[in-house]
Amino acid sequence: MLDLKANTKEFIFKQSHLLSLQDYTKEDIYKVLAKSLELKEEHAKNIPHPILEGKTLAMIFTKSSTRTRVSFEVGIKQLGGYGLFLNNNDIQLGRGESIEDTAKVLSRYVDGIMIRTYDQVDVLNLAKYGSVPVINGLTDIYHPCQILADLLTIYEVKGRFSGLKLAYIGDGNNVSNSLLIGCTKVGMDISIGCPRGYEPCSDIVSVALENSKTSYSKVKVTNSAIEAMKDADIVYTDVWASMGQEAEEAIRERDFAPFQVNSKLFSYAKDDAIFLHCLPAYRGREVTAEVIDGPQSYIFDEAENRLHVQKAIMALLMGEGGS
Ligand code: CP
Ligand code: NVA
Repeated sequence: MLDLKANTKEFIFKQSHLLSLQDYTKEDIYKVLAKSLELKEEHAKNIPHPILEGKTLAMIFTKSSTRTRVSFEVGIKQLGGYGLFLNNNDIQLGRGESIEDTAKVLSRYVDGIMIRTYDQVDVLNLAKYGSVPVINGLTDIYHPCQILADLLTIYEVKGRFSGLKLAYIGDGNNVSNSLLIGCTKVGMDISIGCPRGYEPCSDIVSVALENSKTSYSKVKVTNSAIEAMKDADIVYTDVWASMGQEAEEAIRERDFAPFQVNSKLFSYAKDDAIFLHCLPAYRGREVTAEVIDGPQSYIFDEAENRLHVQKAIMALLMGEGGS
C-alpha cells in the first residue's frame, strides 16, 4: 500500500491557490490527500482541529451546487472559521463589477475565496488581482476539488494509484479534463470513452500525455465505450449535459445513449472495479440504477470525501502551510 504520509513527511507544500491540478506536483497532491486522511480520522474521533480559527472563506457561486456549497461551509466551520455564501445575483459581480475590483475588495475582508463559475479566466484573475488564496470550485473546464476527492476515494479502496486504470465514459467535460490531469499526475492510467464530437479538449489531452511521460501512466481517448471500459479498476461517469448546456439536453441524450454505464457495459471492467460519479446523477441516463446503487458503487464515500479534501486544501492554503 502506498504510504502517503511517509512519502510527504519532509515535503513542504508551497502552493498559494488551487486553480487547476496541473499547477500541483504529485507530491502536492499526496500532501493534500495525507492531510485529508489526518483530518478525516480526527473528525471521526471527535478531535477538534481549529486550524483556521477566526478565518473567513468567501464562497462565490454563479452556478448551482449542493456538495460544493455544503462541504465548504461545513468544512470551514469544522476548522474553526466562517464561510460567507455569496450568490452571484446578490453581489455586485452579478451587475457587472469587475473581477479585478471584486478580488481586491474581498481580499481586504476575507482570508480565502472559493469560486464556482463558468470561465476559468475569472478564477485566474481572482488569484491574480487578489491577495488571498483562491480555490476553484468548478469552472467550465476544470473541477479540481472533485478530482482530489475521487483520488482519496480510490486510495482508500485500492491503496495505490500506479497500475490502476480509470475508465471515464461520457462527455469530455470539466470533470474528465481534471481527471485526465489528476490521473496522469499520480501515475494512474486513464481511458476516456466518448461519442465523436464530445472528446475532451485536445490541449488538455496533450498536457495529460506530457504528464504521463514522467508518471508512466497511459492515456487513451476512444469513441468506443467498450474499448475504454476493458479491464478498468475504476469506472466513472458524469452528466451528459453540464450546467450551462441545458439547451443541448435532447440532442445529447440521443448522442450519448450508447455510452450509458449499465450492467452490460460495466461487465467489461475488472470484477472488482468500483463505480464513481461526481454527482448529481440522473439514473436511466448516463448510468442505470443497478450500477450506481449497486454494491460496487462508492458514490457517497466519494461525496463525503469532498469535505475532507477541501478541509485539507483550506488548512494548507489558508493556515499552517505544508509544515
Ligand atoms: N460534484 C459536485 O460538485 O456537486 P455540486 O454541483 O452539488 O457541488
Ligand atoms: N460536469 C458537471 C459537473 C457537476 C458537478 C457540470 O459541470 O455540470
